[in-house]
Amino acid sequence: MIIFKSEREIKMMHEAGKLLASCHKEIAKIIKPGIRTSQIDVFVEGYLAKWGATPEQKGYQGYPYAICASVNDEICHGFPNNNPLKNGDIVTIDIVVNLNGALADSAWSYAVGNISDNAKHLLKVTKESLYKGVEQAQVGNRLGDIGYAIQSFVEAEGFSVVREFTGHGIGKKMHEEPAVLHYGKAGKGTKLKEGMVITIEPMVNVGMWQCKIDSNGWTARTVDGKLSAQYEHTIAITQNGPLILTEQ
Ligand code: MF3
Ligand code: CO
Repeated sequence: MIIFKSEREIKMMHEAGKLLASCHKEIAKIIKPGIRTSQIDVFVEGYLAKWGATPEQKGYQGYPYAICASVNDEICHGFPNNNPLKNGDIVTIDIVVNLNGALADSAWSYAVGNISDNAKHLLKVTKESLYKGVEQAQVGNRLGDIGYAIQSFVEAEGFSVVREFTGHGIGKKMHEEPAVLHYGKAGKGTKLKEGMVITIEPMVNVGMWQCKIDSNGWTARTVDGKLSAQYEHTIAITQNGPLILTEQ
C-alpha cells in the first residue's frame, strides 16, 4: 500500500532533508586521505544530535551504525571502519535522518584526494543518472519512466545499473511501497501521483551489475571488484513537478 503524504508531512520531511543536505556539505569538507569512515560515522551522529535529529539506519533490522560507508568496489551497506581512506578512493556515504518522526534519505559519493579519470567519469555519470530519474518523477508518469531514463543513460556511457537494490517510498518508515527500480521500460509500472514521496538512488558499476554480500551479512560489493558509485535523493511528487527534499 502506498502511503500518500499531506503538505504538512512533506514539509516536515523537507526539514529533515535540509538537515541531511547540510550534513553532506559538512562531510564534503572533512573527506580527505587519512580520515576513517568510523570518524565520519561519529561525526554524523553528533551533528544530527546537535539539531535534535537521529540516524534512522542505526538499529534498523540490526544495522549497527549511523551511516553506511561504501568504499570503491562496495556498492552499498558498507560498515564504517578504522581503515584510513586513501588518495584515489571513492566512498559513498548514505544517511537517513529522523527529525521529529519525519524521515529523509540521501546518499552521496565522494572523491578522496585525486581520483582516476575512470572514477571521475563514474561519479559524473551516476550523479547525472539520478537527475535524469528525478526529471521523470512527474504526476502522471510511471515508475518505469524513471528506471528507463536512468538505465538507458548509464548503459550508453558503458556502465551498468545494480538490480538487487532499489529506491523506495519513504515517510514515517524508511522503506515503504513502491519499490523504485533504476532500470525498466518507459510507460510501465505504477503511476505517479501527487503526495507520493520516493527515493531515487541509482547504484552504478564500472563493470558487471551483479553483487555479492560480505560475511557481515550486509555489505554488497561488485562481483568483479570494479568500482561502484551511488547518489540518492528523497523526492516528493507535486503538481509543480518533482520536489527534491534533500537538495544540497
Ligand atoms: N539508506 C538506505 C536506502 O537508501 C537503507 C540502508 S539499510 C540500513 O534505502 F540498514 F543501513 F539502514
Ligand atoms: Co539511503
